[in-house]
Amino acid sequence: MDARGNVITRSEEETRQLGALIAQCLPRPSVIGLMGTLGSGKTRLVQGIAHGCGVREAAVISPTFVLIHEYPGDVPVFHFDVYRLKDVAEFLDLGPEEYFQRPGISVIEWADRVEEYLPPHRLIVEIEVVSESDRCFLFRPQGQEYEKAVDQIIEMWRRAAGDPMRKLVGKDCPNSREEG
Ligand SMILES: Nc1ncnc2c1ncn2[C@@H]1O[C@H](COP(=O)(O)OP(=O)(O)O)[C@@H](O)[C@H]1O
Ligand SMILES: [Mg+2]
Repeated sequence: MDARGNVITRSEEETRQLGALIAQCLPRPSVIGLMGTLGSGKTRLVQGIAHGCGVREAAVISPTFVLIHEYPGDVPVFHFDVYRLKDVAEFLDLGPEEYFQRPGISVIEWADRVEEYLPPHRLIVEIEVVSESDRCFLFRPQGQEYEKAVDQIIEMWRRAAGDPMRKLVGKDCPNSREEG
């Protein structure tokens, strides 16, 4: 799975802005899998995505005791967090495929745990903690419509006014190893 590019955010507010931009550019329906350690910013990104979909932001939290939250908005958001998943059957019992086909945006935190059950066309976002305030978001789109969306996200992010660090966009995150 090839990385299409990355962007760096320098605060949680920038991560929310990135989420809103992702929501704006992605096809409907779409499926986004988030991968990254605890505290990398997955839920902050979901908050931005939800904001971009017209969901009241206060509604968005980490779904601790349930595996899925559904947020009504201009575009509905289906927020999965499989951190506490006992086994894959528990995930499949939710009927994820039905959510994935509904005309909204499905976002899955800890997507590496259920990656093989995601649709073949999806966007994987790997989040790397660069420093206390900086996060690197690496985009791995699968399928042409997602590749186009990622190109648009990166282009719009790069063009956004303000912090020149935003121009630091490349193929890999600072700490990622070279892949063969
Ligand atoms: N650039 C950034 N983007 C997102 N979160 C950041 C950033 N810099 C620092 N943080 C902090 O990192 C934490 C991310 O938390 P959260 O989004 O809940 O992570 P996760 O869902 O991946 O466990 C928050 O405490 C947030 O304030
Ligand atoms: Mg979280």
